[in-house]
Amino acid sequence: MIEITDLVKTFHQGSVNEVLALSGISLQVRKGDFITVIGSNGAGKSTLLNCLAGSYPIDSGHILIEDQDVSRWPEYKRATQISRVFQDPLLGTCGPLSIEQNLALANRRGKYHGLKRGVQRSDRELFRNQLSQLNLELESRLKDSVGLLSGGQRQALTLLMATLVKPKILLLDEHTAALDPKTALQVLKLTQQLIDDQHLTTLMVTHNMRQALQLGNRLIMLHAGRVILDVSGEEKAAMTVEDLLEQFYKVRGEEFVSDRMLLV
Ligand SMILES: Nc1ncnc2c1ncn2[C@@H]1O[C@H](COP(=O)(O)OP(=O)(O)OP(=O)(O)O)[C@@H](O)[C@H]1O
Ligand SMILES: [Mg+2]
Repeated sequence: MIEITDLVKTFHQGSVNEVLALSGISLQVRKGDFITVIGSNGAGKSTLLNCLAGSYPIDSGHILIEDQDVSRWPEYKRATQISRVFQDPLLGTCGPLSIEQNLALANRRGKYHGLKRGVQRSDRELFRNQLSQLNLELESRLKDSVGLLSGGQRQALTLLMATLVKPKILLLDEHTAALDPKTALQVLKLTQQLIDDQHLTTLMVTHNMRQALQLGNRLIMLHAGRVILDVSGEEKAAMTVEDLLEQFYKVRGEEFVSDRMLLV
């Protein structure tokens, strides 16, 4: 249902700093696929997500969402169909606004909202229900400004906002990497829960090999702007961290040895 064909993206084209970040990526994402995306620094993972979301224009190729070619759609238009959560908890929410105002904004995504302003009473009930599943007791703090929340609370709220109106695709770019290990685990569990409940089609970038294997039904590895591994189902389930490291080694050789400790 999401078809990516021959996606090419170059930065600083024609200059000495030219970088070919995506070198003809093709990927068919099925409805309900939860794909973990791995690859070393500079492999093109964030660029792929940015190109899908429309943050960067592409040089060539096509992106189809449910048979609709969105390749030339501006970012704001794609945001009606695509949700994102970044590494930085500050990016997905608006600090000076209250929790309920943030949720109200998220609830309007892709909807015609006419003259309706502010937070409706009927919305509050929905927000309380949704917030209670986070187990962070935020349901009693609807009027608190988001700037008061901890990084983990804020990232959990961002996830909720990203999925309040079901997106056609959810893009997660190392969204737990900036959190302490315990909070990261909680946010990861919440991620899994939201994805399961709504059968969300998801691409999740991570540097954690174990996580990449444990989560999702499919795993892709990028290297130098290409997909060099694409496994799903039983094949993925049978893979070990060592298998993945071996793949890294094959493409990166000696250079990879120094990174090895960072990857596990
Ligand atoms: N806005 C930009 N301007 C110029 N070059 C960029 C830009 N964004 C990415 N690049 C370059 O494109 C290549 C791919 O970068 P990208 O951020 O997609 O890698 P990544 O796989 O997400 O890496 P990391 O694991 O470090 O986040 C890199 O060489 C990077 O320097
Ligand atoms: Mg990145």
